[in-house]
Amino acid sequence: MKTILVTGGAGFIGSAVVRQFINDTDSRVVNVDKLTYAGNLQSLASVASSPRYAFEQVDICEAAEVARVFREHQPDAVMHLAAESHVDRSITGPAAFIQTNIVGTCVLLEAARTYWNSLDGDKKAGFRFHHISTDEVYGSLGDSGFFTEQTRYEPNSPYSASKASSDHLVRAWHHTYGFPVVTTNCSNNYGPYHFPEKLIPLMILNACNGKPLPIYGKGDNIRDWLYVDDHARALRLVLEKGKLGETYNIGGWNEKTNLEVVDAICAILDELRPQGAPHASLKTYVQDRPGHDKRYAIDASKIERDLGWKPQETFETGLRKTVEWYLSNDDWVQGVSSGEYQNWIQNQYGS
Ligand code: NAD
Ligand code: TYD
Repeated sequence: MKTILVTGGAGFIGSAVVRQFINDTDSRVVNVDKLTYAGNLQSLASVASSPRYAFEQVDICEAAEVARVFREHQPDAVMHLAAESHVDRSITGPAAFIQTNIVGTCVLLEAARTYWNSLDGDKKAGFRFHHISTDEVYGSLGDSGFFTEQTRYEPNSPYSASKASSDHLVRAWHHTYGFPVVTTNCSNNYGPYHFPEKLIPLMILNACNGKPLPIYGKGDNIRDWLYVDDHARALRLVLEKGKLGETYNIGGWNEKTNLEVVDAICAILDELRPQGAPHASLKTYVQDRPGHDKRYAIDASKIERDLGWKPQETFETGLRKTVEWYLSNDDWVQGVSSGEYQNWIQNQYGS
């Protein structure tokens, strides 16, 4: 039985990865999470009682604590998802992004390398550090073209610059120390358990509550959307079969303007919640995000060709599942709609 150390396992994507490992494999999972505003143990309620699941509330910037976790749990692999992840927050407060995404990644790499150096035999040969990153490190595209693994890094926001820095650290640890790493850069995820500060869950919940749907600028920025469980399956595949030192782009070939996304959500809600229709009348154009990247689009040929990965959901099936999940999981929604997050959203939008 393998032991996978997952950082950020109480977050949106991390919790999907943890649920898959517990439900679909016989691996043991150690979830290392600080539980910031974005970390939510409710997202793991369905697997938390498994004897193969362990939780460590630890900040990845705390070297001694991170070293203790490695000593005590003796993992076979690390999947590093812990991060500050929201672009708007990185604009209003970049320091936390530098701390967790850059300093935290460095602390984790050093703890993992020290631990790896202490191993021998098959345990050492099989060890892997999988760094989970974003396509935003590549910057912004014009009307044509795609991000490939060869695209030059040109991060534009404090968030993407901090993720680009962490990618470079991981690359350097491989090049300098021979540390066994794989890196993935994925497009925008959506799906259940997504914190409602990001576009899709925010629009679903605001529309349900008859609140304005804040569209930045003209709503013509393009994102490339992937259902979170498809991302989690890709991550598990790369961990198992990815070539050491390589990078894999992950995306579902699903480019949409923000207006197309919001209109699609409103159309599903008009059908499922007709009492609020037409939900699209709540669309409100607000001031654009500073430095707003125009278009992201992933060329996923490499992971498809080399590892045989294919997403299972289309944007239409995934979005419908997502809206249905938010409509039928009020406890989770109430849980995240209070406290620090709510204060932040009120300051941003006055809602
Ligand atoms: P998220 O914000 O939902 O979750 C992040 C998790 O990390 C939270 O549980 C939080 O408590 C934890 N965390 C934050 N700081 C920590 C620290 N110092 N120590 C320990 N834990 C800490 O993020 P997400 O959307 O699930 O993204 C996960 C990873 O995937 C991130 O590295 C992100 O950059 C990357 N990514 C996200 C997307 C996306 O669309 N959401 C796309 C591509 C890549
Ligand atoms: P977001 O979900 O924050 O992800 P990212 O910035 O990492 O791509 O935003 C997705 C797109 O939606 C982005 O172009 C910004 C836009 N957006 C809005 O128009 N209104 C909103 O309230 C939010 C949160 C985002």
